[in-house]
Amino acid sequence: MTITAAPATESAVSFGLEVRAGLCQAGQKTLPSKYLYDPLGSALFEAISLLPEYGLTRAEERILRRHAEEIVSHVPRPVLVSELGSGNGRKTRWILSALCGREPLSYYPIEISRAALDSCQSELSDIEAVSIVGVEREYLDGLREVAALRPEGTHLLVLFLGSTIGNFDGGADARFLRDVRRFLLPGDSLLLGADLIKPLDRMLAAYDDPPGVTAAFNLNLLARINRELGGDFNLRGFEHVARFNEMTSSIEMHIRSRREQVVHVRDSYAVAFKEGETIWTESCHKYTREAIAALAVASGFRQQAQWMDDEWPFAETLLLAS
Ligand SMILES: C[S@@+](CC[C@H](N)C(=O)[O-])C[C@H]1O[C@@H](n2cnc3c(N)ncnc32)[C@H](O)[C@@H]1O
Repeated sequence: MTITAAPATESAVSFGLEVRAGLCQAGQKTLPSKYLYDPLGSALFEAISLLPEYGLTRAEERILRRHAEEIVSHVPRPVLVSELGSGNGRKTRWILSALCGREPLSYYPIEISRAALDSCQSELSDIEAVSIVGVEREYLDGLREVAALRPEGTHLLVLFLGSTIGNFDGGADARFLRDVRRFLLPGDSLLLGADLIKPLDRMLAAYDDPPGVTAAFNLNLLARINRELGGDFNLRGFEHVARFNEMTSSIEMHIRSRREQVVHVRDSYAVAFKEGETIWTESCHKYTREAIAALAVASGFRQQAQWMDDEWPFAETLLLAS
């Protein structure tokens, strides 16, 4: 497996700049959710996906396991598969196994997290006919590289699973899919996993589990700032909060300051927190089937087929680049 890593210094500089911008801006403090996934964050996300409250991963796995053959029957060949934010790739096994029944296959997982790429490789390395080339990049930079590698006449199937699309809220989801579409050719496909609206208690419990695994995942972002940027956040002075924003139909994850306090990042700047003030770290938009159809059209795709789970409302939608 070849990994093309972004230079470490470049990533550290972007992390420092984005943290400073998010913590020092006027009004709501924010931190980009992509920074949740350092090695510990990626391990904690794997643990989240096993929680009884987080039904989303199991729902998607059931759909892919049951319908993989039918899903791939819609995909033209020859095909090259790429995945945006593969994580450990466990669910992807079903699609790759169904596709490589007929021919050898190249699979390019694109990940910001090196740790996630490593687990993806060990998870899927036993599928003999699949050659895995990990791409340690941000989504669109990685997709640009993968699209440039495709042999003429080969179609691209892009997987975007786990409802990660929901992390792009406020219309950013359509903008992101339009950007993805720019790297595709007519006839290419996008398999999109999206979590659907369900009763409030189920949605909230999925992001605020009793053992506190999601809380650890969220607070680890402050620990990461301490480790990598020389911050002095006292984690006991902050707590994880998950709430549903009805206006945007999103679960929002925040980190709330338990008291008035000042935090320093190296010696270069200080951030003052009022008691109860929050840092907004992630949004997880919840969709309706109509909203997914509208999103497809708005971003230059045509909905080809859709599969649902019976136990946990979740939709897997195959979109065709039109
Ligand atoms: C919500 S997890 C989903 C993982 C997996 N697809 C699943 O369904 O379980 C999002 C994944 O995307 C990766 N990621 C987040 N932001 C990214 C970015 N900007 N570019 C590339 N990967 C990113 C994270 O490292 C993480 O593994």
